[in-house]
Amino acid sequence: MASEITYAEVKFQNTSTAAVVKVPPETKKHERHPQKYPPWLPWLISLLLLLVCIALVTVLLVAPFSHSNGQPTALKQKFKEWSCDSAVPEGKEEGWTCCPKGWKRFQGSCYYLSGDAMSWAASEQNCTGMGSHLVVINSKAEQDFLSKEVKKPSRGENHYIGLSAQDMGQWHWVDQTPFNVSAAFWREGEPSNPDHEKCVVIHRTSGALNNWNHVQCNSHNRICEAAAVIV
Ligand SMILES: *[C@@H]1O[C@H](CO)[C@@H](O)[C@H](O)[C@H]1NC(C)=O
Ligand SMILES: *[C@@H]1O[C@H](CO)[C@@H](O)[C@H](O)[C@H]1NC(C)=O
Repeated sequence: MASEITYAEVKFQNTSTAAVVKVPPETKKHERHPQKYPPWLPWLISLLLLLVCIALVTVLLVAPFSHSNGQPTALKQKFKEWSCDSAVPEGKEEGWTCCPKGWKRFQGSCYYLSGDAMSWAASEQNCTGMGSHLVVINSKAEQDFLSKEVKKPSRGENHYIGLSAQDMGQWHWVDQTPFNVSAAFWREGEPSNPDHEKCVVIHRTSGALNNWNHVQCNSHNRICEAAAVIV
């Protein structure tokens, strides 16, 4: 009796272990592979990699290109000598505001007043070549600052600003700032009509504030402007 019972127990364990160990691995291996990697998965991975590549190319090539058009970076690259003052930059608690040596700072901008004269187009090119543009006057305070600068001794009679007209009366700022008639500082009697006078200067000996004159685009001094560099 006792030996029969022992035999039955051993047989039960054998069959149960065989069923558990041997059968499942083979059938499971064959069934799971096609479920884990559907045929479209490599395409999805390729697409994602492509998108990552496009994003990288955008970041590496396009971003630096658009930065180099930004004024502070362009200006930064053109000059080695700077003068900085401790004027606290807007929106910061501390820092320095820097302009290239020989340039004047007012608020967040640097200004170059030339000692030499050239055409309006060459003037704009010269400013661009220095990481700046012909000055765009956005406020009465800025106009006041520039008017005082041009009145200093040894300054030229006329300084080009970044305002010109393709057609008479159609005034355009070089940086596409919309022209605002009520924030213009024409000297008395201007703008008058001659249609060969399509460029604008600040005239040294006109009024204290209202000193814009439109002239021919030949040879005058110039004022370049760029955003100051914050460090
Ligand atoms: C712009 O003009 C100034 C003064 O003549 C000159 O020193 C400077 O090299 C010129 N810069 C460019 C980029 O033309
Ligand atoms: C135009 O200039 C006037 C005077 O400075 C100012 O009050 C007004 O807001 C300006 N308009 C625009 C559209 O900038």
